[in-house]
Amino acid sequence: MELSRHSSIILSITIVTTFVSFVKSSLPQGLQTLNISSEISTDPNITASFATDFGNLFNCTPGAVFYPSSPNDIATLIRFSYTSSKPFPISQRGRGHSTYGQTLVPDGILIDMSSLGHTNYSRINVTDGPFPYADVGAEQLWIDVLNATLKRDLMPRMLTDYLYLTVGGTLSNAGISGQEFKHGPQISNVYELDVVTGTGEIVTCSREFNPDLFYAALGGLGQFGVITRARFALEPAQKRVRWRRLFYTDIKLVTSDLEKLISPDNNLSGIIDFVEGEVLLSATQASLIGSTFNFTDSDVQKIIDLASDNNGPIYLVDAVVFYNDTTATSAEQKVDLLLKELQYTSGFAFSNDIPLLNFLNRLHYQETARSSQGQFHPWLSMFVPK
Ligand SMILES: *[C@@H]1O[C@H](CO)[C@@H](O)[C@H](O)[C@H]1NC(C)=O
Ligand SMILES: *[C@@H]1O[C@H](CO)[C@@H](O)[C@H](O)[C@H]1NC(C)=O
Ligand SMILES: *[C@@H]1O[C@H](CO)[C@@H](O)[C@H](O)[C@H]1NC(C)=O
Ligand SMILES: *[C@@H]1O[C@H](CO)[C@@H](O)[C@H](O)[C@H]1NC(C)=O
Ligand SMILES: *[C@@H]1O[C@H](CO)[C@@H](O)[C@H](O)[C@H]1NC(C)=O
Ligand SMILES: *[C@@H]1O[C@H](CO)[C@@H](O)[C@H](O)[C@H]1NC(C)=O
Repeated sequence: MELSRHSSIILSITIVTTFVSFVKSSLPQGLQTLNISSEISTDPNITASFATDFGNLFNCTPGAVFYPSSPNDIATLIRFSYTSSKPFPISQRGRGHSTYGQTLVPDGILIDMSSLGHTNYSRINVTDGPFPYADVGAEQLWIDVLNATLKRDLMPRMLTDYLYLTVGGTLSNAGISGQEFKHGPQISNVYELDVVTGTGEIVTCSREFNPDLFYAALGGLGQFGVITRARFALEPAQKRVRWRRLFYTDIKLVTSDLEKLISPDNNLSGIIDFVEGEVLLSATQASLIGSTFNFTDSDVQKIIDLASDNNGPIYLVDAVVFYNDTTATSAEQKVDLLLKELQYTSGFAFSNDIPLLNFLNRLHYQETARSSQGQFHPWLSMFVPK
């Protein structure tokens, strides 16, 4: 289920004061002598631009922003803090999509991970064969990984809903989307990581080598080191998707259908590749639905009327089958079979058939279409307890 974005800015004068005192008195002694000192900026205009995150609930200016040109540079900074008599806080940031200030580091040093990508070495390497995988720099965006793998007729086995997030960022969390019921979160599809640890060593880890670090760094919210490279599973790419969007007015029917769709004990679960739900809280929210699917104006009106008549939230379920040229007919038959067994509101099953990339990148198109209305992509996706 997805909730819309709420935002409020907490601006405090104390934070600004603390920042000034950091620059004047607490910039770690000796930092200027390191070979990475030219990559560290205390320019207030720069630090201010890293003071908040996507959640926009907190505002804490870092003392400095660090632009590493390699994982070795990150190791140099962390080793310096670790061996210093006054260790200082360090945090890392990809696209800054944390929702509760997790990447913010008041008065500390914030690592801008994107600068690792400013290199002439390839940061997305694809290896095919019977067990294809990719080696990717943590700063890379999933959209760029997807784009690069599709050129080799491969795709990551597991993606997030929103693709303009970094590999290191989502692997420090979990990485979920409607494919989760099949493959688990993204962190269950990782083979190997490079991590700069809290002592400033660069360690390669996997299920076999340094497994404690591997399992701690995956989903570790950046608390166990800085992920700088990940190797994860790919699979053969599909070409297009058959996408059914079903509407409901009763949450009990939604949850029972979702369960039917994903339960491994049920013969429907092998059919679909992607399942997700969304809550539309009001007719006003329902009126924004047009940009997210190929609805006609009269479809949108029908959905708004459903929401108005229901006088409460309505729900939608997306059930999607991925296919290629040889599986197109069977994909259609499967979807028809599936619909017969679901309990959506009669007359409220809509169909769409689009290229795979457009489907996987749907939140970006939605974001582009909706930004003029002040609503961006969903604030978060979450699991609904039974
Ligand atoms: C910071 O931004 C302000 C306003 O945009 C500008 O006047 C000032 O020159 C900038 N300072 C630096 C150090 O770039
Ligand atoms: C700084 O020194 C480390 C070795 O201690 C090296 O690996 C790294 O590339 C250097 N960084 C820069 C920016 O010169
Ligand atoms: C990449 O290569 C180009 C020319 O080959 C060079 O001008 C540039 O400085 C290099 N960039 C880095 C980050 O090494
Ligand atoms: C990709 O391969 C090149 C060439 O072997 C290597 O220099 C680079 O470090 C690799 N990138 C990653 C992210 O593994
Ligand atoms: C994918 O890469 C191509 C260049 O190879 C670029 O033109 C295109 O915009 C990229 N697509 C996305 C969705 O980033
Ligand atoms: C699933 O099984 C039920 C009964 O066992 C059957 O009626 C139904 O057609 C099957 N559905 C699909 C999609 O195979």
